[in-house]
Amino acid sequence: MPTRIRRADLADLDPLVPLLVAYNAFERIPWDPVAGRPALAQLLATDDEGFILVADRGGELAGYALVAWCFDLEFAGRDAWLTDLFVASSRRRDGVGRALVEAAAATALAGGASALHLLVDPANGPANALYARTDFVPGHRLPMTRVLRTIG
Ligand SMILES: CC(C)(COP(=O)(O)OP(=O)(O)OC[C@H]1O[C@@H](n2cnc3c(N)ncnc32)[C@H](O)[C@@H]1OP(=O)(O)O)[C@@H](O)C(=O)NCCC(=O)NCCS
Repeated sequence: MPTRIRRADLADLDPLVPLLVAYNAFERIPWDPVAGRPALAQLLATDDEGFILVADRGGELAGYALVAWCFDLEFAGRDAWLTDLFVASSRRRDGVGRALVEAAAATALAGGASALHLLVDPANGPANALYARTDFVPGHRLPMTRVLRTIG
């Protein structure tokens, strides 16, 4: 069964939720599917904030990539963050992750972004190997976060 990478829409919301739950559990990110649903629906309904690509295998979702738009004078305007990348464990090592990353980069470029950023745990061997093979290079600055409002 061939796997097709396509843009997700609102019809994908419910099938996407278990993949988002699995991704966030893997990354040890607290994500509540109930509190998170409106933002997920917003992302699927419009192009304004970014987009989600899914790996569709005969109607079953084998994985997804989530890209959020950003704006940075360093990149003369729009850049983007690959905030999520996940392939179902039974579908790994079959090129799905690489296909999602390449499609995410191409779609971000077509949407006007000049750079695609991501965060990766240095201990995540498979993800680091994938990103090294898809032209991501580490920056010299450490990402930092200040939480401004509690979610949920
Ligand atoms: C990382 C992840 C997305 C890779 O997806 P995948 O579909 O298995 O990746 P691919 O089959 O497209 O592999 C592409 C390349 O990545 C590298 N790679 C992927 N998995 C690897 C592994 N377990 N060990 C070593 N290299 C690996 C290889 O270089 C591979 O190319 P090759 O098969 O020609 O050697 C997947 O393992 C995953 O969802 N992990 C859990 C979530 C996660 O880590 N997300 C990224 C967070 S930053």
